[in-house]
Amino acid sequence: MERKLKCIGVLTSGGDAPGMNAAIRAVTRAAIYNGVEVKGIYRGYKGLISNEIVPFKTQNVSNIIQQGGTILKTARSQEFQTEEGRKTAYETIVREKIDALIVIGGDGTLTGARIFSEEYNFPVAGLPGTIDNDLYGTDTTLGYDTALNTIMQAVDKIRDTATSHERLFFIEVMGRNAGFLALDGAIASGAEAAIIPEIATEVDQLEELIKNGFRKSKNSSIVLVAESEITGGAIGLASRVQKEYPQYDVRVTILGHIQRGGSPTANDRILASRMGAAAVDALLDGQRNVMTGIQNDEIVLVPFSKAIKNDKPINRNLLETLRILSI
Ligand code: F6P
Repeated sequence: MERKLKCIGVLTSGGDAPGMNAAIRAVTRAAIYNGVEVKGIYRGYKGLISNEIVPFKTQNVSNIIQQGGTILKTARSQEFQTEEGRKTAYETIVREKIDALIVIGGDGTLTGARIFSEEYNFPVAGLPGTIDNDLYGTDTTLGYDTALNTIMQAVDKIRDTATSHERLFFIEVMGRNAGFLALDGAIASGAEAAIIPEIATEVDQLEELIKNGFRKSKNSSIVLVAESEITGGAIGLASRVQKEYPQYDVRVTILGHIQRGGSPTANDRILASRMGAAAVDALLDGQRNVMTGIQNDEIVLVPFSKAIKNDKPINRNLLETLRILSI
């Protein structure tokens, strides 16, 4: 007979994302509200292996909804990728009397959760916490909106100097192998173009850009580039332009980890709060191996297998919108 759900362990893993703290708060408070104990697991799966676990009361999550980063710390655990590591993690779980886990993180985190839950027949629910927005089955991920706003504000500033000097700027944004931040960031900041991995094999995006004369009515241009070997990155593209089109005065800015920090936006806080409460509900309902997602403003449960395996497509209409608006 299955043990009644008495204690949930919560952890954050992989790259941090604004809104993770709001999610930890929501999980903790929703569980306690439902009479379930909560244990905070530090440093992701690493802390599960090395037993860095602390009982959480409602006060442990006071005053964190507005904070970026994660109070639970985060890590990418190589050890959890081994059978031996997962066995040690399971032993910790049994010793700590944890009946279910809620993991908050991206692709790697949910992949680990899926393997672990199948190996030990253990209930796990996940929240999509990543600025990359690359998880299938959810319109958006926790931290994406905040990162997008950070990008927009940074590009606004770069535009001032780009305009004064009449330069062409390649601004590289994160996203691992996905172009969501670059594409939405370009539209939000009024950039001329986004160079993204999703269409890199279909068309030479730089060539197109040059052929179209960048922005015809202005002397400066801003192009957002998704980090990725497939796009060549901002440095790769800039050196290509310098070689092939020396008439342009080119500069590069790599926004880097600034995109992962900062106080979460209202949207991210609300999303984290809804998803955290929904993950607790899902476990109480006997669901397992599911990620909370949001589709058309409704919370949905997406099997881990779907969220991880399928590539989330970009909205191609946005490319067209960007092209039209950059004349
Ligand atoms: O997955 C989130 C992310 O910020 C990616 O966009 C980026 O490629 C990666 O993490 C950077 O990882 P790290 O913090 O290990 O440099």
